[in-house]
Amino acid sequence: MLLTHKATVWKVSLVTLLVAAVIGVVGATVYIYSGFYDIAAAEPHTGPVRSVLRTTARNSVERHARGVEIPNLADAKLIRRGFELYQELCVVCHGAPGVAKSRIGIGMNPNPPPLEDAVNYWKAEEIYWIIEHGLKMAGMPAFGIGVSPHNSWALTAFVMRLSSITPVEYARMAAAVSDPDPRVAEAFSWTRHEDPGWTTLLARGDAEEGRQLIRELGCGTCHRVPGVLGATGRNAPPLDGWSRRHYLAGIQMNTPALLVDWLVDPLAFKPGTAMPDVGASETEAWHIARYLYTLD
Ligand code: HEC
Ligand code: HEC
Repeated sequence: MLLTHKATVWKVSLVTLLVAAVIGVVGATVYIYSGFYDIAAAEPHTGPVRSVLRTTARNSVERHARGVEIPNLADAKLIRRGFELYQELCVVCHGAPGVAKSRIGIGMNPNPPPLEDAVNYWKAEEIYWIIEHGLKMAGMPAFGIGVSPHNSWALTAFVMRLSSITPVEYARMAAAVSDPDPRVAEAFSWTRHEDPGWTTLLARGDAEEGRQLIRELGCGTCHRVPGVLGATGRNAPPLDGWSRRHYLAGIQMNTPALLVDWLVDPLAFKPGTAMPDVGASETEAWHIARYLYTLD
């Protein structure tokens, strides 16, 4: 008796599943042929679709880039080659420090992101893999078709350093490479310095001390700063989501080292700025920077 009952339950569930599957397939087919789906690139993907695409891409890149061997990316010649290729192949879609993307990049869906902070989201081998193989369903071309692996590494080396190149430096490099002059070496002199990475840099400060300092130095009379009591000022840009900002005071890349320079001496950083010298020492500025980069 029990056995037959179980068997019936099984049969009923199976039939229900089959019917649901058939309805699903028929529904999808009707939808596909009806033309109701809005294929316009100008209409963004819905949240869930975008989320599925991104998660798929992230995990796929992580898996496929495993075990890729990385050459020396600190080589100045390689970075310079990467810069030249970047200008030729990437700026159209991704833009560069102080350079807007072209209309091709503006009209794309998904929108090609600025690559200044790619280094915070991807490892070197993953950036290389993306450049070599491209991203399906995103419009990111596979440069492995037409660009040698050496050049893909050059591009990777350059993208890895993009977060520390200011708009002024970028413009100087662009001017220098189009002119076969000794100024080239000078414009690229920054490649001699090793970029120690954000995590190491930020470890110089303490977030809790930073929060206290922001309160004591009165930053909140001008800025809104989440998590700091009374910091509700409206005279200056709010500092919410600081870790995601690309620019600092509208003229430089937002990086920890540059933020510290800015806090220590705003007027030297940007002559004529309305941000006053708040009297923060370099040590204090590292604490403040540590706190601001916790803001997501
Ligand atoms: C035709 C436009 C186009 C060109 C040209 C292009 N890209 Fe992309 N790229 C994209 C798009 C679109 C995405 C994916 C955006 C998404 O999924 O959010 C992307 C994503 C990326 C990513 C991953 C970034 C991230 O955080 O998701 C990297 C790295 C990248 N591109 C590097 C490059 C480099 C280097 C070049 C030049 C060699 C280049 N791209 C040229 C359109 C382009
Ligand atoms: C008297 C008002 C005032 C005070 C006090 C002040 N700032 Fe500012 N701050 C400004 C103004 C105005 C700007 C915009 C300057 C510009 O872009 O040239 C600015 C810009 C900034 C920026 C860059 C914002 C952006 O969007 O790029 C940061 C970061 C910043 N301030 C942090 C601080 C911190 C931390 C303190 C306290 C130690 C502080 N400020 C104190 C007025 C103030």
